[in-house]
Amino acid sequence: MSVNTERFYGRRQGKPLRPGQKARLERLLPRFSVAGNAAPVGPEELFGRPVSDLWLEIGFGGGEHLLAQAEAYPDIGMIGCEPFINGVSKLLGRIEERGIENIRVFCDDVRLLFPRLGEASLGRVFILFADPWPKTRHHKRRIVNRATLDALSRLMKDGAELRIATDHMPYARWILQHVLAHADFEWLAEGPEDWRRRPADWPPTRYERKALQSGGRCVYYRFRRRNR
Ligand SMILES: C[S@@+](CC[C@H](N)C(=O)[O-])C[C@H]1O[C@@H](n2cnc3c(N)ncnc32)[C@H](O)[C@@H]1O
Repeated sequence: MSVNTERFYGRRQGKPLRPGQKARLERLLPRFSVAGNAAPVGPEELFGRPVSDLWLEIGFGGGEHLLAQAEAYPDIGMIGCEPFINGVSKLLGRIEERGIENIRVFCDDVRLLFPRLGEASLGRVFILFADPWPKTRHHKRRIVNRATLDALSRLMKDGAELRIATDHMPYARWILQHVLAHADFEWLAEGPEDWRRRPADWPPTRYERKALQSGGRCVYYRFRRRNR
């Protein structure tokens, strides 16, 4: 697989981690991370037990949505992918506090994770408020693009759901154009209410709260991976 060398994420670290956060990261990351060699990882070896499905969140930020989904569906294995180390540290703290067993973390660019996952292994994928990269010369950094959709099409099961949210309307149009141009996905919306309102089983994220508080509006797209 050829990997676009353009980076997608803004930064890997914000404020320097306090010594306690750094120690927590060093202690918990080996236990919860999808690490090791480049061989594909199966859900049973990741979670040490069978799981009823495998879901992936790309760019979980502070992890609010991932944690809420993991608590709502304890039988499902969740992989969260996030290169921003402060977010990973925060998530690991919550995982430990709440005794959550069904999250594993990939602390890097999701494109490095794709080859590690099995074909037709994912039942749901979330891309929530991905960086919109508004400048035209940066559009090639947008995570929703043909290459990502090709990878997800390979990794998602028949009928699996792809959920994408944004508050950036030009990116919302870009997302629709790209997903609808892909033969393997169909849009599940039947009317405007289906994408203007966040469904009840879709917990909010920190970025979304900030966008709504500052008067923005958000779209919540649900797509289905067509049957092979
Ligand atoms: C605007 S933030 C949104 C965070 C969170 N989803 C939310 O709604 O609060 C986008 C996140 O995507 C992450 N990200 C960007 N490119 C990524 C990539 N290639 N793989 C995984 N995560 C990525 C960034 O580090 C950032 O934390």
